[in-house]
Formats: sequence, structure tokens, C-alpha cells
Amino acid sequence: MSAVLSLESVSVLYRKGRTMVPAVRDVTLEIGRGETLGLVGESGSGKSSLATAITGLLPSGGRVDGTVRFEGSDLTGLAASDRRRLRGTAIATIAQDPFTSLNPVVRIGRQLVEFQHWQTDRSRAERWRRAAEMLAQVGLSDPEARMRQYPHQLSGGIRQRVAIAAALLVNPRLLIADEPTTALDATTEDQIIGLIRNARQAIDGAVVFITHDMSVVRRLCDRVAVLYAGQVVETGPVGTVLGDPRHPYTKALLACDPAGIETPTRLLPTIPGTVPAPGNLPPGCVFAPRCTAALPVCSQRSPRPSAAGPGHSAACHLMGTA
Ligand SMILES: Nc1ncnc2c1ncn2[C@@H]1O[C@H](COP(=O)(O)OP(=O)(O)OP(=O)(O)O)[C@@H](O)[C@H]1O
Ligand SMILES: [Mg+2]
Repeated sequence: MSAVLSLESVSVLYRKGRTMVPAVRDVTLEIGRGETLGLVGESGSGKSSLATAITGLLPSGGRVDGTVRFEGSDLTGLAASDRRRLRGTAIATIAQDPFTSLNPVVRIGRQLVEFQHWQTDRSRAERWRRAAEMLAQVGLSDPEARMRQYPHQLSGGIRQRVAIAAALLVNPRLLIADEPTTALDATTEDQIIGLIRNARQAIDGAVVFITHDMSVVRRLCDRVAVLYAGQVVETGPVGTVLGDPRHPYTKALLACDPAGIETPTRLLPTIPGTVPAPGNLPPGCVFAPRCTAALPVCSQRSPRPSAAGPGHSAACHLMGTA
């Protein structure tokens, strides 16, 4: 199986004073055609930073080390213009807040036409027609009326549907969705997840779905990579990782998942402590200070990933002891 996306030892570094500190460290992952990979972790674990390493939309002062390959071609060192073309023809993103991708002062219709800038085989009329069709496909009634509106005239859920339509209009072969449902209520979240599931079938490629919510991973993804303090601590097929988690961080995240709690309480559990900031990482295993199962070795040596089953690995000293 040829990979749509492959990351080899990818790190993302940001400038802090006079040094560069890593927010993502040494991530190696592959995503195959037809696959949806969930990237999960708490706030600050480096999910969005890893996404920018793929899209090239890194903030100024940021740097990517390692190799990012899309359909076999190395994206490292690609010129800005080639990156833009790639984002207009092959790699699309959906952000948490669709306001970041929609221009507030331009009507929806014109924006959806402009998103198709690189589809030079489509006339303006054709682009308009496709935009209206796509809005209907993402469940909006009266697309022509929507296209005359401005983003602020739409509810959050409708705006997110427009953002999905915009992403799909470029026929992407890689779709990266960065917490697209976090700002939405549960019913709208369900609808948006349904749309992304349909989108996966429509695109001839792969989806990276970023979330902090294990129940979303369960509903949508084939494989999952659990990120903590910029490192992949566990990865594997969703059924295996969620059914038989091997890393204490994955177990802790699952314990916070409302779907897995038999007696719902008003207060959802959280993992005590916080994700360490880049440049301020503890020695040994990065999760050790928050890990209830930590051994002395955990604060001394960083564990290497080891196999837990087919396609399933975790980086934890306890792996050999259980
Ligand atoms: N432009 C930047 N400059 C410096 N540090 C940054 C920058 N962007 C992110 N960081 C830091 O990198 C770390 C990872 O941040 P990132 O936004 O990638 O995490 P995340 O997993 O996407 O979090 P969230 O769930 O809150 O979106 C954080 O400590 C953050 O403060
Ligand atoms: Mg983020």
C-alpha cells in the first residue's frame, strides 16, 4: 500500500529567546489511502504544530526538521508557491474556528469560487455551480441564498459546513481537520462527524483528524496516534489501542472519555497536572511526573517505542514488565 502521507522523524521547533525549543519531537507516522488517522492529545501536546508541519503553514520563527512526504514526494524545502498550489489542489484543512479560513468581509459564494482558483479547467460559472452543489451536499438548504450571505450571518455549525464544502471543492487527496467540532454543540458535532465520514469516502486519499476527544476517535478513525508533550506515546488500530491501551497516558485519556464512564457525573474527570511546555521537559519519560504507575527508571531514561501487537506500539518502560 502506497502511503498518502509519511512523516519520518519530524520535529517542529519554535524560537524561545535565543534557542529553538521542540513542540513536536521525532514523530514517525504513515497514513495509507482510504485511512482516517486520529491525532489525539490534551491541549498543548503539539497536535496543531504537527499539522502545520504537513501543510507548511508554520508560524514565523517556526522550523520543521525531518521528512514529510506526500504521495512519495518530499515536501521539505518546497517553494512557497508550490506549497500554495498543493493547498489549492491536493491538501485541504478544516480549522476549529471556520472564521480563520473564511474572510469576514466577502460573501460566501465569492469565497467558494475563489477557493477553486487552481481548478483552471472550471469556468467562473462552473465554479459557482459546483459551490452551490457542494453546499447542498453538506446539507445546506437554499445554497444560492447562503452564497449571498457573509460568514457572520451564519451559525457556527453552518459556518463549519461551509468550511467543509470549501475544503472539498479542491478535491483534496489529504484532508486535515483540526478539532473542527470543538466549538459546536453535541447534535451539530454528530452531524459534522457524519459529513467528514462521507467526505472520506468521496476523496481518493486520507484524512487526519485532530481531537482531544477519544469518543470522536472511536466514532471516526481507523488508526490513532496519541501525542503527549510532542511525542507519539502510543499508536495503532483504533479498536486495539482503545480496547487494550498500553500507555498510561492513553489509559488516562480514555478514563476522561464521557462515553466510557458508566455512571455519568456532572464533573468529568481530568488528568491531574499539565502538559509540560516545550523547552521545559522533565528528564526520562515525559509523562512520568503525571503517571500513577511510574517506576524510578521512568524519570531517568526515555522509553523507546516497542511493539504491543500488529501495527500497535507504545513507548513505556512498563511494557516489558506487564
Ligand atoms: N507559534 C508558536 N510559538 C511558540 N510556541 C508555540 C507556538 N505555537 C504553539 N506553541 C507551543 O507549542 C506547544 C504545542 O502547541 P499546539 O498548539 O501544537 O498544541 P495542540 O495540541 O494543538 O493544543 P490545542 O489542543 O490547545 O490546540 C504548546 O506548548 C504551545 O504553547
Ligand atoms: Mg491545536
